[in-house]
Amino acid sequence: MIVIPRALAESLRKHFPPEWLAGLAGLAERTLDQWRLTVDGKPMHGMASLVLPVVRPDGTRAALKLQPVDWEHESEPVGLRTWDGDGIVRLLDHDRDTGAMLLERLDDSRPLSTMPDDFAATEILAGLLARLTRVPGPDGMRHLKDSAEQMVANTPGTASKLSDQDEQNLLKDWAARVSEVLDEPGDRLLHWDLHYDNVLAADREPWLAIDPKPLVGDPGFDIMPALDNRWDDIVATGDVPKAVLRRFDLLTEALGADRQRAAGWTVARALQNSLWEVDGGEQRLDPIQVAIAQAVTSPRR
Ligand SMILES: Nc1ncnc2c1ncn2[C@@H]1O[C@H](COP(=O)(O)OP(=O)(O)O)[C@@H](O)[C@H]1O
Ligand SMILES: [Mg+2]
Repeated sequence: MIVIPRALAESLRKHFPPEWLAGLAGLAERTLDQWRLTVDGKPMHGMASLVLPVVRPDGTRAALKLQPVDWEHESEPVGLRTWDGDGIVRLLDHDRDTGAMLLERLDDSRPLSTMPDDFAATEILAGLLARLTRVPGPDGMRHLKDSAEQMVANTPGTASKLSDQDEQNLLKDWAARVSEVLDEPGDRLLHWDLHYDNVLAADREPWLAIDPKPLVGDPGFDIMPALDNRWDDIVATGDVPKAVLRRFDLLTEALGADRQRAAGWTVARALQNSLWEVDGGEQRLDPIQVAIAQAVTSPRR
């Protein structure tokens, strides 16, 4: 019997059609049968996915990941196949009809977020990001160019929902900044969500990425999750702009990215995050997104 963790059920109820949650345990049972898998541990989860630690008939340990297949999740198996395990978890099997993925098992007890030294953790993230974004994006995958154009077009309408006039103007400034980098949207395979909990300790390499929501574009667009995550560490330094720039410099150097363009694409990510929040009902900008956009666009100190 598969029991869906309560926190996952709540999150699924909030964000997805009720049929998905209602059918999830059944889908898990059928997929276990289909691939002849045995569960060998407690279910794991994120906001949208159920991940079961399993063993294959030949004794290999694996992880079965089940998640609603929507625009955000459909590119995950395509990306994983393209990377083919280089710096990221390997895809062992995939069912196109249900979206079920069988993944190489990594050490879920040791995400990179547990590494105490913030700088060392960011260095590892930067190294992985540089490797992942070295790969050209495959044909047919969604492109940053399209979503960035859409963001810029949607900004005036969404900005008018903000309660503060200065914040309305700030959002429009961000969109103007994004327009400046739109001429070169990039052609690399991006992870989109490489934060410290989406990197797990492994055997074949010390650390491997998981959970990509791939798209094709400029690696600069992939930097934000490394900046706004582990925010307490940034605040604890006592100098937020300096600590943000320390991470930003580490990442842009590892990527070999032009700092100006990377700043433009980081602002694009702040814009994307903010448009989502405001369209979802928020009337103020998230101060963390504002602090990051300010830090990366202000003249070097
Ligand atoms: N290959 C794996 N091996 C071991 N644990 C995994 C693996 N993939 C995911 N997990 C566990 O499941 C959790 C959720 O998976 P993740 O792919 O990050 O999905 P989500 O998009 O829901 O965050 C992870 O945080 C991790 O604890
Ligand atoms: Mg995750």
